[in-house]
Amino acid sequence: MNRGDRPALRAEDLQLVRGQREIFQVDQFALTEGEVLALVGPNGAGKTSLLLTLALLHRPTRGYLQVNGTPVTPQNTLALRRQMAVVFQEPLLMDTTVLRNVTTGLRIRGVPREAARRRAQEWLDRLGIGHLAPRSALHLSGGEAQRVNLARALALEPKILFLDEPFSALDYPTRNGLLDELSAILKETRITTLFVTHDYTEIPRLAEQVAVMFAGRVTKRGTVKDILGDIALPGRIPAPWETT
Ligand SMILES: Nc1ncnc2c1ncn2[C@@H]1O[C@H](COP(=O)(O)OP(=O)(O)OP(=O)(O)O)[C@@H](O)[C@H]1O
Ligand SMILES: [Mg+2]
Repeated sequence: MNRGDRPALRAEDLQLVRGQREIFQVDQFALTEGEVLALVGPNGAGKTSLLLTLALLHRPTRGYLQVNGTPVTPQNTLALRRQMAVVFQEPLLMDTTVLRNVTTGLRIRGVPREAARRRAQEWLDRLGIGHLAPRSALHLSGGEAQRVNLARALALEPKILFLDEPFSALDYPTRNGLLDELSAILKETRITTLFVTHDYTEIPRLAEQVAVMFAGRVTKRGTVKDILGDIALPGRIPAPWETT
């Protein structure tokens, strides 16, 4: 089957209300299999809330969600969530070794100990931190910790990967290196990915499509060029919610 043929994730009339406030209302949203979609928008637009809802970590107030063709129900939420992995800005690693941080999720998913260890080590190697495997995860640099976090997510071999500003706490060279590696990994694995960022220079390196969120609505969606224009041009880049 060609990529583009079927949605890995589909939402209809999805709404999240907290207290008296509508956090977002999204009429239609889909991630096509193999697509890398960047989600941009100003602070407070609802990006993280939408991402967490699509990742089945927040229960929507209303709406329909389908993952790889299966409608989400309270009964299958946990099983479907196991097809997904989420990476946040803060790595939130456990107080144990680096290796263990990566193997734990695999063990929970029933991967035998040796296979989990092997797969974890492979992903740590792939992200250039294989040598850190026996080290405590609590004493890593920000860049190392985010690499562990990515290894932990990728080792799960998710069908859908959610990245919420994964590089925003990293210095420029670290961010640059990780972007190159992640870009190569996504091209190779073709994991369907939703990627939230405030840094437009990251977008063309990872994503083909961009969705814009503003005040709880997805207001635009298109190719990177359609939405952002030629972002390589110097000077101030107008935010896509500022242009018509
Ligand atoms: N549990 C909650 N209760 C009440 N309001 C909430 C809750 N969660 C989020 N919000 C509000 O919803 C709005 C959207 O928040 P969200 O974190 O999704 O925005 P965002 O687009 O990710 O912003 P940022 O770019 O700053 O990360 C904000 O105004 C936030 O205060
Ligand atoms: Mg956010």
